Amino acid sequence: MSAEPFAIGLLGHGTVGKAFDELLEERADEIERFNGRRPVINGVLTRDRGRFDEVLAGADLLVELIGGLEPAREYLLRAMRAGKDVVTANKQLLSQHGEELFETARAHNVRLRFEAAVAGAVPVVRVLEESLSATPIERIHGIVNGTTNFILTAMARGSTYQEALVEAQRVGYAEADPSDDVSGRDAAAKMAILARLAFGSPVHLDDVRYEGIEHLHADDLEYARELGLGLKLIGTAERRQGGLSVRVHPTFLYGGHPLATISGAFNAVTVESNAITELTLSGPGAGGRQTASAVLGDVVSVMTGGARPPAPPLALDLIEDVDSAFYLHLDVADRPGVLAAVTKVLGERDVSIKSVVQHGMGERARLVMVTHQVLESRMRTAVAEVAEFDFVRSPPRAIRVIEEEFL
Ligand SMILES: NC(=O)c1ccc[n+]([C@@H]2O[C@H](COP(=O)([O-])OP(=O)(O)OC[C@H]3O[C@@H](n4cnc5c(N)ncnc54)[C@H](OP(=O)(O)O)[C@@H]3O)[C@@H](O)[C@H]2O)c1
Repeated sequence: MSAEPFAIGLLGHGTVGKAFDELLEERADEIERFNGRRPVINGVLTRDRGRFDEVLAGADLLVELIGGLEPAREYLLRAMRAGKDVVTANKQLLSQHGEELFETARAHNVRLRFEAAVAGAVPVVRVLEESLSATPIERIHGIVNGTTNFILTAMARGSTYQEALVEAQRVGYAEADPSDDVSGRDAAAKMAILARLAFGSPVHLDDVRYEGIEHLHADDLEYARELGLGLKLIGTAERRQGGLSVRVHPTFLYGGHPLATISGAFNAVTVESNAITELTLSGPGAGGRQTASAVLGDVVSVMTGGARPPAPPLALDLIEDVDSAFYLHLDVADRPGVLAAVTKVLGERDVSIKSVVQHGMGERARLVMVTHQVLESRMRTAVAEVAEFDFVRSPPRAIRVIEEEFL
């Protein structure tokens, strides 16, 4: 006699939900072959289809692919309180109500899996939770938003920000309202989840400082090339001064950094530890089928008993003011003494200059420099003072630089 099917309640049947349904159909034979039980969808809930209580009652596990905070939060909590394992792809929910969900999973001894919530098909959650569970992690850098990486890749090839955004919308990588992506908020939600996983400390989306790519100029990419740098929207979670710093901002990378070559809509995450030096995972960060494959991987992991309830939190202080090297772009009048005046102000704030490129253009000139490491607060003060000079023609732009190259 064959074993009982493994019943999956599916909440949401949109881009990812439909793709999950199709992929499950294709893979059910193979999963049954190595697992002994056949996964089947026993109920579907959308806005106008199904009833939550009925879907829950008949399910061994619930897959949540509705998105947003409510009713997804309530459904996941009710499912876990009823003793059901759950799988979700919902980064908004995990980055804002993660602790409540983790605590409920622990209290009811059920599994809460969320591989697809960060970096789509890239299996970074599982690698952090399982493969690297014995490795003390120092730092994670990630390109965790495909839309912005697509736009920056197009800008590096000569497009303006607007042209690149329109192209991203045309090919379906950017939504009609792209604000969550281009502001850095989507990446911040994913970094909050990664930071919780890597360091065990609860991080809410509101704890993550983020800047987007809306104010970048094609100029920045061009000058950066002269300095041997590429520009990416990078999320960072790292141990700093006994605490934890989590942030997202446009960042210049030297060509030898593993994230420097990630182009188009791909995602990638670099994990750094003294024990392993550096490990980088990359792949498609979104798309219905790609995301569905991560969701189905989570389902199979629960079926095979490979996943544990989440670990209890371990609070670390969040550090806001961290040091970094900076790229500084100044649009100045081309007259004698400008460079000396700028370097004097920077020096007074402990900002020391590593390299400078100067382009004279008649009345105007552009001064582009890379600094050594300096505390962000000092850099901001110095930039505000430089902006006061009458020879500075437009607001200065300061962008962080990652100096490691792993050559
Ligand atoms: N799309 C991607 O590439 C991608 C990548 C990574 C992660 N994700 C995550 O995956 C999740 C799903 O995304 P998606 O792109 O598939 O979304 P979607 O296409 O908008 O689909 C959402 C589904 O949820 C249903 N739904 C919405 N509100 C509901 C409610 N109040 N009650 C019951 N059902 C409701 C919708 O019902 P109707 O069919 O009736 O409208 C629809 O079937 C999100 O958390 C998203 O962040 C998506």
